[in-house]
Amino acid sequence: GFLAGVAAAGRRHAGAGDPPAATIDVLFGTQTGNAEFLAGEVVAGARGRGLGARATALDDVPPEKLAAMSHVLVVTSTYGEGELPDNALLFWEALQAEAAPRLEGLRYAVLGLGDRGYDDFCQAAKVIDTRLEQLGAVKLHERVDCDVDFEEPAAAWTAAVLDLLVAQTGATATPAAATPAAAPAPRARSSWNRRNPYRSRLAVNRLLSSPRGAKEIRHYEFDLGDSGLTYAAGDALAVVPVNDEALVGELLDHLGARGDEDADGRPLAELLRTGREIRTPSKELVADLVERAPESELAAVVAHGDRFDLDSWLWGRDILDLLRDAGPAAPGLDGLLPLLRPLQARQYSISSSPLAHPGRVHLTVASVRYGTGQRSYEGVASNYLASRVGADGTVGVYLQPNASFGVPADDDAPMIMIGPGTGIAPFRGFLHERAARGASGRNWLFFGDRHRETDFVYEDELTALRADGVLTELDLAFSRDQAEKIYVQTRMRERARELYAWLEEGAYVYVCGDASRMAKDVEAALLGVIAERRGRGGDDAGEYLAELRRAKRYVRDVY
Ligand code: 2AM
Repeated sequence: GFLAGVAAAGRRHAGAGDPPAATIDVLFGTQTGNAEFLAGEVVAGARGRGLGARATALDDVPPEKLAAMSHVLVVTSTYGEGELPDNALLFWEALQAEAAPRLEGLRYAVLGLGDRGYDDFCQAAKVIDTRLEQLGAVKLHERVDCDVDFEEPAAAWTAAVLDLLVAQTGATATPAAATPAAAPAPRARSSWNRRNPYRSRLAVNRLLSSPRGAKEIRHYEFDLGDSGLTYAAGDALAVVPVNDEALVGELLDHLGARGDEDADGRPLAELLRTGREIRTPSKELVADLVERAPESELAAVVAHGDRFDLDSWLWGRDILDLLRDAGPAAPGLDGLLPLLRPLQARQYSISSSPLAHPGRVHLTVASVRYGTGQRSYEGVASNYLASRVGADGTVGVYLQPNASFGVPADDDAPMIMIGPGTGIAPFRGFLHERAARGASGRNWLFFGDRHRETDFVYEDELTALRADGVLTELDLAFSRDQAEKIYVQTRMRERARELYAWLEEGAYVYVCGDASRMAKDVEAALLGVIAERRGRGGDDAGEYLAELRRAKRYVRDVY
């Protein structure tokens, strides 16, 4: 695994008792916690090599501090459409400014985390890399941009960069035998990962929404058994899914394959079931099909439309549809396999608190399903959990810590939580956590969905939490129970005065759920509320919100 490589390599170099030769600043920009986790791994690897190292969030590094650093390793993911992660926005703003300091004294390297499925792959890493170079910083090592399977390229980058740093800074290398205990112990949280998930027993699988509703939202509980896994409210659980056997069968039929053919050293059927994305077409597959069938409808959309047109054309079509559409031009088995992306683990915000439910992790998941004409389409992981978990009842999982998303350390601080739909998940955990801690801070939840009758999940619990005084305020927005749409941000605007008063009293603001529209609209509403109450215009409101962000009092878990 990643850690083993870094720590073991480190053991060769670190001299027991050697003073740290230089301070390596590992700066991370993170949205879901991956980059922060990797930054911790880089620090551990550096220390294992006798280098002094510390990890800091990008936003906690003002330009003058950056200019004073000697060796900087940036690890950053990209969020949304090529945007900087939330905890790197202020850093980026300052770095772009004309007044940004020259960085001639700085040596740096950048590691990007991203997803090739998006157009602006690793954009945040790219722009930071370019800007640091513009400001005169000296590149130690080429940037590496990692796709979703980031472990190996990240480990290779880390090892290469740290070896260079050892050579350049003169950290003392000593034989392995002399330094038995120099490498830091691996952190418990990293022991289970994508390659080595913990097989957790799925103890509860219960329908939360009404069976009469259009949406299906389910409550799951995973047993942590003797995994040694620990988590905090606000972390995410990664689920390693298995593809639908029926879909694998259809694909094999289409390819004229039996399934027992050798594919990357294992039977083809197994590769398709557990190793490849077989529902959503990759960009590579789309490009290949366009090349093979330049007269097709797909090729026309790609040639004349923008990305939005392509996305809407692809909506409701899966890989098999595209292959069938392409007819004889479609790639065969050998052509297709390299165009299928590795099957990814899916991350879900944990909806429990370890204090309230020791030894268990709860998830709140909407089953993604839609049908068009002859075929029905199912989201891979949500439907695996809902109905396709194997006979032994276990699911491969690992933890995705999210240190920046959690209840305030200060039990007295007020919390404002905005989470429509399954965005409620982490906030259920937060409320349980605060109840278990006997925290006295006030709590305000904005929740909503389509219909109160069918979609008001955890209604009994929320009612009880209200009665117990844990949940101070509950504002509900059911969008389709009346002629006009009512959203959580509608309720926020209605309660502008109280909302602003809470902010002035030190409230933390949390947003969880849909990133593409909801989180943007909620942010606009928040800015509107601040501007209205302060009466000093939009720039002032923007600065007020930036200050909240800086103080880590405005944090989001959006996807
Ligand atoms: P709608 O589907 O009726 O438009 C959870 O999906 C809830 O979020 C639904 O009530 C949905 O409403 C609502 N929703 C959709 N778009 C939204 C947006 N831009 N901001 C806030 N809520 C939104």
